[in-house]
Amino acid sequence: MSEVLLSARGLSKVYSQGDQELEILKSVDLDVSAGESLCILGASGAGKSTLLHILGTLDRPTSGQLFYRGENLLYKSDQELARFRNQKIGFVFQFHHLLAEFTALENIMIPARIAGVSASDCKRRAGHLVEVLGIESRQTHYPSELSGGERQRVAVARALMREPEILFADEPTGNLDKENCRRVQDLFFELKARLNLSLVVVTHDAQFASRFPRRLLMEDGRWVQHRPPMEFF
Ligand SMILES: Nc1ncnc2c1ncn2[C@@H]1O[C@H](COP(=O)(O)OP(=O)(O)O)[C@@H](O)[C@H]1O
Ligand SMILES: [Mg+2]
Repeated sequence: MSEVLLSARGLSKVYSQGDQELEILKSVDLDVSAGESLCILGASGAGKSTLLHILGTLDRPTSGQLFYRGENLLYKSDQELARFRNQKIGFVFQFHHLLAEFTALENIMIPARIAGVSASDCKRRAGHLVEVLGIESRQTHYPSELSGGERQRVAVARALMREPEILFADEPTGNLDKENCRRVQDLFFELKARLNLSLVVVTHDAQFASRFPRRLLMEDGRWVQHRPPMEFF
């Protein structure tokens, strides 16, 4: 059995709207092992992004606990969490969120520059990543000069810059045409095998989902306990 990397217990998220309380996540538990890949499915509004943001420490739960290698992350200050995230966690969103005024290579290097890694080490690592992701010939281009698939590959490279242990992706292919969608999907599995990452992906794409050994279905802020019908995939 692999070591449990990330462990969530009883995560809930409540938003207040006027005098109403909206319970978006309802006591969600999850263990993610080192090197494991899993995907999260569910209808729009089920709470998938909310959960992913909390697991990735981009947001805090209303209640519940989150452990990383046994350490309670929620005791950390926002600043400590930002440092932790920079070192251990990669995030890829549906929209690439690249900075328009920086080239592809510069965008990829940003997380390492923030962490104080030297310019030469940054360049070396980013140079390796553009090779791995097949975007070498695009590295001096600005985001507006790249195709959707290329932008998403740059975003993946940026997420990998700090050699994270877990990569989270929220509908990473939701905004791509069929061919780029397939390429980016293949890339996730190649990278996972190569870098021994844990991979936690939210997707609506049944074909993508079918490639994950573990699939979890979320409905109305909680896991659906029964096995989803096969045609779901
Ligand atoms: N900041 C917020 N305030 C109030 N409601 C929110 C907020 N963020 C998300 N929600 C609501 O939480 C529910 C789950 O959202 P989300 O996690 O984005 O779902 P999914 O990613 O599964 O589509 C939705 O009904 C959404 O409207
Ligand atoms: Mg979402």
